[in-house]
Amino acid sequence: MVQKTKKIWMDGKFVDWDDARIHVMAHTLHYGVGVFEGIRCYKTEGGGSAVFRLKEHVDRLFDSAHILTLDIPYTAEEICQAIRKTLHVNGLTEGYIRPIAFIGEGEMGLYARSNPVHAAIAVWPWGSYLGEEGLKKGIRAKVSSFCRPHVNSAMTKAKINGYYVNSVMAKWEAVKSGYDEAVLLDTEGYVAEGSGENIFIVRNGILQTSPLTSILPGITRDSVLNIARKLDIPVKESRFSRDEMYIAEEMFFTGTAAEITPVREVDDRRVGTGKPGPVTKQIQEKFFDIVRGRDALFSHWLDVLK
Ligand SMILES: Cc1ncc(COP(=O)(O)O)c(C=O)c1O
Repeated sequence: MVQKTKKIWMDGKFVDWDDARIHVMAHTLHYGVGVFEGIRCYKTEGGGSAVFRLKEHVDRLFDSAHILTLDIPYTAEEICQAIRKTLHVNGLTEGYIRPIAFIGEGEMGLYARSNPVHAAIAVWPWGSYLGEEGLKKGIRAKVSSFCRPHVNSAMTKAKINGYYVNSVMAKWEAVKSGYDEAVLLDTEGYVAEGSGENIFIVRNGILQTSPLTSILPGITRDSVLNIARKLDIPVKESRFSRDEMYIAEEMFFTGTAAEITPVREVDDRRVGTGKPGPVTKQIQEKFFDIVRGRDALFSHWLDVLK
């Protein structure tokens, strides 16, 4: 169950958590036309708190809306400010932030271009998405029978609500089959991404991730690439096949929800030693140092809450 907080920001006002409701005739409920983000805020060294890469997340929200031709009736700076305020009124110093823009009621049918666009922001405490144990020991993943849709069917640079039906089906299938997470291949059969994560492998000492061609440009993915370069770990962004995961020395998922989650097994094959490897551990440790404000070199990624 989501751990409720007090207030949700809805169209510029704060409403009680239980009153943040929408009408059953809201267009987005029927057709999935909306955009959203997932952002985390962490307690930082010295007793403060900071949102991780807030600007990049809000910019991606607006990119998603632009791709969809959805006019969010606020500026990016207004949404950033509303996020900070929502954390503040709820007294939340660590947790998850979910901004969403969606189409309300009015006309029915697909076109409905005169319906109002609403925006909302909810925040709540949320621990590690794939489990504390998963973060430490690694999880088990399975290549999904669902593909990451063709780049011309599902826009790759947008977090559009309806697209997540495919991810939800992949996740349900993986969990029902006894695994923790799904690996989706692209329509050409190469490894694309998880149901809500990007994927990294280490092979021959090189950290490798799928190129941006057919995947969501993850902000955690970008953070990991930057961290790796700073740590002098060789990186490459190039396609790889499912069996390259089987023979990888290490593998991990990245995402705002999943953070840096090691993968210890894929398709019932042990990855490397079956334990998080040295590169994964080094990057995971650096990532948590950064989000918790223990690394001055990356302090520009933190939107410190006042
Ligand atoms: C399909 C998909 N891929 C990758 C990611 C990882 O992106 P980020 O690191 O920005 O959270 C997400 C999560 O937003 C996602 O939903």
